[in-house]
Amino acid sequence: MNILIIGGAGYIGSHVTRELLDRNHRAVVFDNLSSGLRENLFPEAVFIHGDILRYEQLTAAMQESGAEAAVYLAAFKAVGESMIKPEKYSVNNIVGTINLLNAACKTGLKYVIFSSSAAVYGEPAYLPIDEKHPANPENYYGFTKLEIEQFLAWYDRLKGLRYASLRYFNAAGYDVKGRIKGLEQNPANLLPVIMETACGMRAELEIFGDDYDTPDGSCIRDYIHVSDLAAAHVLALEYIVQNNKSITVNLGSEAGSSVLEVLETARRITGRPIPSRIAGRRPGDPAKLTASAGLARSLLGWKAEHSDLETLVRTSWEAYQKNLSRK
Ligand code: UFG
Repeated sequence: MNILIIGGAGYIGSHVTRELLDRNHRAVVFDNLSSGLRENLFPEAVFIHGDILRYEQLTAAMQESGAEAAVYLAAFKAVGESMIKPEKYSVNNIVGTINLLNAACKTGLKYVIFSSSAAVYGEPAYLPIDEKHPANPENYYGFTKLEIEQFLAWYDRLKGLRYASLRYFNAAGYDVKGRIKGLEQNPANLLPVIMETACGMRAELEIFGDDYDTPDGSCIRDYIHVSDLAAAHVLALEYIVQNNKSITVNLGSEAGSSVLEVLETARRITGRPIPSRIAGRRPGDPAKLTASAGLARSLLGWKAEHSDLETLVRTSWEAYQKNLSRK
């Protein structure tokens, strides 16, 4: 198929583009390069430098590429920032989506794969979290994701647009075959922060709380490898096309790892000391989050294959070492 990847030069977008190309789809990357990187572009994919907030640029990209489907990965995603600058998240994430949906209607594009997030659930009422868990976001970022899911559901009903909303848990790692060149810029997530500390780009890792009700006192999360996420995008696209039906599914490994476990694994694999310090709890952090990915398994035949802690850390470390040795 002919697929427009909005945000295709970013961290997850570049992995999804690689997977689509590997599966013989035609990929057209649309990115404003605000956080995406030119070094993440592949020669086999057409690149259009454009902004989702510029409706005419988006419509032109859809028309010129003849895209039948769009993958939407161009949202802002820093949870903490979304609580301080909600305006930024309203415009980019919500207005951007409305542009995408209206451009799809105008150009006849019928399928959208959307990067949603476990942040739509908020504080867990039970674990593991399945798709029936109440959606009650605790931060503005999660709210924008839930709003977008609702827009998608309305456009499905009113305009016949079919979508897959993929609720990622904690995305981490780098391409298992080492083909992604760029590194995420100014990361705030645990594993890239650990990697930057291992490389000496940061002095220390702050551990946000060691007094949670968990075995070692640090928070537990469900880390899902970005190569597993990328594979799920392609399977989800194939599913909604074949079944002419929209879906909302969790993507997680169903395993929980604590902050201290991730740190210890990184120390062992990198052989670096990775200085750390116990800092206070970060507001809004639940003690434990794990996914049920049963629906993705049964509908898509998907399962996490690279999401063990060892592979998550090893592929990250290889990407950092390769990238830094080129500089
Ligand atoms: N953490 C630290 N130090 C850091 C960064 C993180 O101790 O410097 C801890 C956090 O407190 C948390 C864990 O590491 O316990 C993971 O934190 P991240 O910031 O990497 O990820 P979050 O779990 O907060 O959120 C991530 C994504 C969201 C998504 C969510 C779904 O950033 O977009 O996973 O589970 F919604």
